[in-house]
Amino acid sequence: MRLELPDVDATEALGSALARTQPTPAIVYLHGDLGAGKSTLARAWLRALGVTGAIRSPTYTLVEHYPLRGAGRALHLDLYRIAGAGELEFLALDDAGADLWLVEWPERGAGALPPADLRVDLAVSGAGRGAVLSPGSSAGTAWLAALSKIVACEPLLTRTGRNSFQLPDL
Ligand SMILES: Nc1ncnc2c1ncn2[C@@H]1O[C@H](COP(=O)(O)OP(=O)(O)OP(=O)(O)O)[C@@H](O)[C@H]1O
Ligand SMILES: [Mg+2]
Repeated sequence: MRLELPDVDATEALGSALARTQPTPAIVYLHGDLGAGKSTLARAWLRALGVTGAIRSPTYTLVEHYPLRGAGRALHLDLYRIAGAGELEFLALDDAGADLWLVEWPERGAGALPPADLRVDLAVSGAGRGAVLSPGSSAGTAWLAALSKIVACEPLLTRTGRNSFQLPDL
């Protein structure tokens, strides 16, 4: 699924729509260059799940943990500054326990992360951003089917065709 995100509000609307449709557990890889909007998307997603306190970018801590409404917890990772995938072992991530993984720069943790249910590729597109959402599991395929119904009636989110903005090849 390809989406046009003309402004920050649209990125936040996508984060909220993903939160409302996500399976549990959900493992999400957020790809895109510096400034593509990964943290903006993650922050809106966590807010929609009821996180009320500060949501800091895990730029230096590599991982932030959030308890979720009801039970469960979310992990927000930013692996940009990781020395190597082996360093993930020291973060005590306990993948059995988390209901949501939002991973920025997942390519830097390749081989040490659980496989993604959903891959989001973000890229600058004019003054806004473009997003490509690709399922990584059967849960991810069902998720995108549910998401497309929300996108159809969310005025901030517009689906686009293949050539409306440039992304690196998946
Ligand atoms: N759809 C959009 N249109 C225009 N600007 C946007 C959009 N989405 C997010 N931004 C802006 O892009 C900037 C960078 O966003 P953000 O910090 O989320 O990027 P990032 O991908 O997490 O970068 P990094 O790799 O450095 O962590 C922010 O100022 C944010 O407000
Ligand atoms: Mg970020």
